[in-house]
Amino acid sequence: MECEYKMLLEKITDLLESRISLQQGGDAQTVGICEVCKCETQNIDYLLAGLKDKVVDIWQAYRNYPVQVNYTDRYIRAAYMLSYFPYYINPIYYVLNKQVILNIKGELNVGFLGGGALPELVGLSKYIALHRNSVKNINTTVFDVTTHWDTERRLVTEPLVKNYYKGNYTIDAIPTNLWDEDFIVHNSIKKLDIIILQNTINETTDEGTKIFKNNLVKIWDKLSEGTIFIIIDLNYRAIYDFIKTLTQSLSHMIELVGLSKDSIDSSLPKCYFIQEKLFDPSRGEDGLFPRGSNRDYWNIVLLKE
Ligand SMILES: C[S@@+](CC[C@H](N)C(=O)[O-])C[C@H]1O[C@@H](n2cnc3c(N)ncnc32)[C@H](O)[C@@H]1O
Repeated sequence: MECEYKMLLEKITDLLESRISLQQGGDAQTVGICEVCKCETQNIDYLLAGLKDKVVDIWQAYRNYPVQVNYTDRYIRAAYMLSYFPYYINPIYYVLNKQVILNIKGELNVGFLGGGALPELVGLSKYIALHRNSVKNINTTVFDVTTHWDTERRLVTEPLVKNYYKGNYTIDAIPTNLWDEDFIVHNSIKKLDIIILQNTINETTDEGTKIFKNNLVKIWDKLSEGTIFIIIDLNYRAIYDFIKTLTQSLSHMIELVGLSKDSIDSSLPKCYFIQEKLFDPSRGEDGLFPRGSNRDYWNIVLLKE
């Protein structure tokens, strides 16, 4: 199994046309900062220094309401891939592992609402590879308004998925504005075994939130019996309120795992290049503080009856 950060750094630098080669010197440490990769070129310092301001832009955007991040900017997406994506792989693995909720054999059809670059798919693939190895095909559909994530999914996420999961998988993208008042539920929703909504609730405005909730109810109504709906999002009061009122509006619903707030570890050893060359404690107040491993997430698992 290759180190996820090594793969991420090499693929992202490829995408930014600044190829680097990392040499692994030994086994990754599971505590502290992993220093087993050595870089043959100085490009990595130059590239990561150039992405610092993009990490700051994203961090500041997430702290302001309404959240407005320009995901069409490839440097913003690159900064997201290095400073957020790695933390968002493990939450779905953790939630699936809480309780046996997947009795699927053979083929699994999964939908991702606001999936972006799909760290959720990496976590799901890891879970399938380790705990449900009877699944030989994973068919995924992403419903996201930003079509630009297609590049990161193909060139970064797919190799990370293959790192864990050796079966077949497909990724279809259906450009979707989830807070469109005239939202029409795509027919492919009906065939899903699981649908996942991770880290997207925050991006709505006041008006958008109401529409989004209505659209989620429309999606829920179209789901087939037996479909599992998983919501994972960050520890904000507004997220708790959103999930609470949403679940009150869903009919034919069983809470398989009730709403809870859990501290979830990123599960990856911290990477020397990210911690030392992308983050910068001297600019901590701007949002470049080196990240810890744990974050609190609201999570809930629902079953359509
Ligand atoms: C913080 S990212 C989360 C992505 C991914 N789920 C994760 O955990 O990394 C929020 C995602 O919401 C998407 N998004 C923003 N506005 C949207 C809208 N109106 N409809 C659908 N997706 C939207 C963005 O393109 C982005 O991929």
